[in-house]
Amino acid sequence: MRKKLIAGNWKSNLSKKEVKELTEAIAMQPCSKLFDLAVFPSEVFISTVVAGSGARFFVGAQNCSAHSEGAFTGETTAAQLASAGVQIIIAGHSERRQIFAETNKTVKTKVDKILEANLIPIFCCGETLETRKVNRQSNFVLQQLQESLFHLNEENFSKVIIAYEPIWAIGTGVVASPKEAEEMHAFLRSEVEKRYSKNAAENLKILYGGSVKPNNATELFKCQNVDGALVGGASLEAIDFLDIAGAVRGAKK
Ligand code: PGA
Repeated sequence: MRKKLIAGNWKSNLSKKEVKELTEAIAMQPCSKLFDLAVFPSEVFISTVVAGSGARFFVGAQNCSAHSEGAFTGETTAAQLASAGVQIIIAGHSERRQIFAETNKTVKTKVDKILEANLIPIFCCGETLETRKVNRQSNFVLQQLQESLFHLNEENFSKVIIAYEPIWAIGTGVVASPKEAEEMHAFLRSEVEKRYSKNAAENLKILYGGSVKPNNATELFKCQNVDGALVGGASLEAIDFLDIAGAVRGAKK
């Protein structure tokens, strides 16, 4: 059985005081056999969260440099993030793609840097509303995987987590239906089996992201191919984030 992962992407939100409070509240959650938790604070607060986490949850970064160490003002390398206690890094979030013009090629390079630093990449993919309206979402997302992940050998691919995040669902309050999420996740898993192996496909975690809330998480987690969630807005309140994690239990019943 794939253990679920509930990941909170705090984006460019929260002051240091708020970060400390949220970290403390999440660290009080007892560990579960059913799910792991991860949070992604702003880079400047990573050390604060690592110190407050008590190793009860994973601490991640929202982004990293596509370069190695050197003269790249303002960039932080995956290796630096690793040395600060980060375990996971998000690559290719749609906000990075849309606002900061990251291409599949840039994301590919970042995935490589993350793996070189012995960290876990959460690779984000997902289509726009226009693409879904013309029913091209499967090809679109598959191409993202082909151009940014499928160059990896199976050993490295097995370290990757995928987050399917349809852009029309991010921060909009419009969540994908469990059927829409399940269809895409099942499709991606079958493509991974074709490219790699049954074993790689079965072990791959595919998270869903886009307007996940306590009131829709249970139905999503009941889907066979949904292995957790990447949560934005609802991860900024401990009660909502932990309720989403608690929905993993509800989905099992
Ligand atoms: P949201 O964001 O939960 O606020 O829709 C999800 C994400 O950007 O990962």
